[in-house]
Amino acid sequence: MLVGFQSLEKCFSVDSLSVRGTIPQWLNGNLLRNGPAKFEVGSNRYRHWFDGLALLHKFSIKNGKVSYQNCFLNSGECKENTEKGQFSYRSFATDPCGGIFKRIFSGWFNRFSDNANVNISKIGRHFVALTETPMSVEFDAGTLQTKGYLKYDDNLKISTVTAHPHHDAKTNTSYNLVSKYGLRNKCYFYKLEGNGLKRRPFAESSVSNPSYQHSFAITENYIIRTDIPFYVKNSLKLLFGRPFIENFHWDHEKSTVFSVFNKITGELIAKHSVPAFFTFHHVNAFEKDTDIIIDVVTYEDASIIQSLYLENLRGTDLHIPFPETQLTRFKLPRNKGAIKTERLYQNLELPRINYQYNTMDYRYLYGIGVHSKTIFDHLIKVDLKTRVHRTWKQADCFPGEPVFVPNPHASSEDDGVILSVVLNEQSQQSFLLILDASSFKELAVATLAKPLPFGLHGIFAT
Ligand SMILES: [Fe+2]
Repeated sequence: MLVGFQSLEKCFSVDSLSVRGTIPQWLNGNLLRNGPAKFEVGSNRYRHWFDGLALLHKFSIKNGKVSYQNCFLNSGECKENTEKGQFSYRSFATDPCGGIFKRIFSGWFNRFSDNANVNISKIGRHFVALTETPMSVEFDAGTLQTKGYLKYDDNLKISTVTAHPHHDAKTNTSYNLVSKYGLRNKCYFYKLEGNGLKRRPFAESSVSNPSYQHSFAITENYIIRTDIPFYVKNSLKLLFGRPFIENFHWDHEKSTVFSVFNKITGELIAKHSVPAFFTFHHVNAFEKDTDIIIDVVTYEDASIIQSLYLENLRGTDLHIPFPETQLTRFKLPRNKGAIKTERLYQNLELPRINYQYNTMDYRYLYGIGVHSKTIFDHLIKVDLKTRVHRTWKQADCFPGEPVFVPNPHASSEDDGVILSVVLNEQSQQSFLLILDASSFKELAVATLAKPLPFGLHGIFAT
């Protein structure tokens, strides 16, 4: 089994990592990352990688030196499960109770997991850990200690919300996509302006079968919801029934539908249907001529969910059934006309861009390379203009999400560095890899003496 899918039992910190190479003088700040890291509670095991208890990581870079610390997010689920040695909350794919009566009498049916193990965001001056349930769990970015749920200045009704909010720097407004399940299901976006904590809902739609929503896209004038045919047939069953993701059904006969809304008024501008695909991640979207262009990492179906059950990831060899992905560009006409689809690249995940180019006609994106033989074993830089792509690969190494940090005096889109936490399976050591984002050549490596569990997403904060 890859050590990256094993549990970390105890948090630790390292004051000074051994650094090879030279870290750019301008690169000072913290790489904050999140991910599942503990998969057993007492004698019970979680079933899915996305169930694992959240571990916050911090690589601090200052004057060419690197320190590291980690800390489990002290969520309600983490506290209670650890104290009781059993599962107490409904999680992504693990069922803590035996049947409907037990669920109701235990009060479990309304206890969404607060194990925010997917991403990190800064909301105003608050650092929060995010998952797809309504609670944003605030933590201290200095100590990584959990502060509690962020208290929003509203009473929005939320069943799920994505862990990939967008921020529009021009208007200093953040956006996110909400699903609300019940007798009448609905989806809406909210906007959060300035440093306030009052979320204003807009672009609401009734939906009979809510789709699984992991991310969405914005352009300068539009906000786009992507309804994939991986949907809830009976949302009441979801409220009272099986673990979250097992309520979703894949139907290849149905289409994927892009709903395009005006970002200011919330008015539905257009709906576009394309053949079925599954996705976690939108890469970027922008307006060009008469089209809205939206780039998405697509899968043929939802089997990736099955691939990421721990019984598949923790096999005796490194062969993990990771399905093929396509970086797919959809050109949606703003007026009349046909939708055009273009495949730009194959087999990448965890896409990141220079976020200053979000909503813009961008050129570069970065990701981890995936394939069925050894899951993710290289980093990729995709050049959408020249189609001359670059990779970073090292024997026995498994890199995590590549985070782009711009040079403060950047002269081009790829003027900056890529930060990725890499696990060397052979030496059982993790390291922070710093690549020149332009040449994709190694600038520096800061090595820990220990392995880290694979993470999901993170941010660089100064
Ligand atoms: Fe994600």
